[in-house]
Amino acid sequence: MGEITAFAPASIGNLAVGFDIMGIALDYPGDEVVARLNGPAGVRITKMTGDGGKLPLETELNTAGMAVKELLAKANATEVGIELEVHKKLPLGSGMGSSAASAVAAVVAVNELLQLGWTKTQLLPFACLGEQVASGGFHADNVAPSLLGGAVLIRDNATLDVHSIPIPPDMHIVVVHPDIKILTKEARAILKPDISLKQHIGQSANLGAFIIGMFNNDYELLSRSLRDDVIEPQRAALIPGFYEVKQRALEQGALGCSISGAGPAIFALCANYTIADRVGVAMQRAFAVHQLTSNIYTGPVNTQGAILI
Ligand code: HSE
Repeated sequence: MGEITAFAPASIGNLAVGFDIMGIALDYPGDEVVARLNGPAGVRITKMTGDGGKLPLETELNTAGMAVKELLAKANATEVGIELEVHKKLPLGSGMGSSAASAVAAVVAVNELLQLGWTKTQLLPFACLGEQVASGGFHADNVAPSLLGGAVLIRDNATLDVHSIPIPPDMHIVVVHPDIKILTKEARAILKPDISLKQHIGQSANLGAFIIGMFNNDYELLSRSLRDDVIEPQRAALIPGFYEVKQRALEQGALGCSISGAGPAIFALCANYTIADRVGVAMQRAFAVHQLTSNIYTGPVNTQGAILI
């Protein structure tokens, strides 16, 4: 009875200026999924660790289970019996792409287990279908960076027209995760369905400029364009102390700082490790003023995405 283990990293959805259409992978932490052939036809989650008993084990309600179920259907392998162990290393409801990482690790492990030989691009839709169970929407801004690594732009989520964005040398990310939970579905439900023409112009200009900055290693342009004038103002109130945390990050030299995915984690992009390190400490101190303990994750961009381990 062979078994395969895969790792998929955390990710930051939206990256401030690209709501639902941009994301970037973190070096750590990440979820691990073990897949093995065993038992009757179908997918079963036989073990889950690191979730404090909070995540559903039912296949259709679990992002890893659902991703594999969809994958088996497409691969005409529904007669196969697969057991999954999901080891959550990412905090739940954090905005760090926890549900996406489990779905990604699951499809990567099963692809190897069944020797399907599918590319990551071919696996992408199934991981998205899995993540949809938790987020309530079909968007690849966490799934794509977790699977492929690096930073990605998704021109169209429906067709998964996904493009990699180059990473400037030495760029580091810091994510500070306060000890509160926000459910993506709830953070999406509060968003207004429409934006003004002025907001559209500002956000699309900044998105274009941000991508040019990434291509040209232009940190000045990155720091002018890494901002979210549409979603952040609507969600900031969900995170106690958000604007102070952001202010401290910018004071310490972050290129930009905003909500990681749907929050409550807050991320900052920095030109190098030294800046990222002091930015993280300043952000954590700002949360502490609001009686919130937090964890800091600082590292380079993960450029390889999900891997077999
Ligand atoms: N783009 C998503 C959101 C990321 O902000 O709602 C979380 O899945």
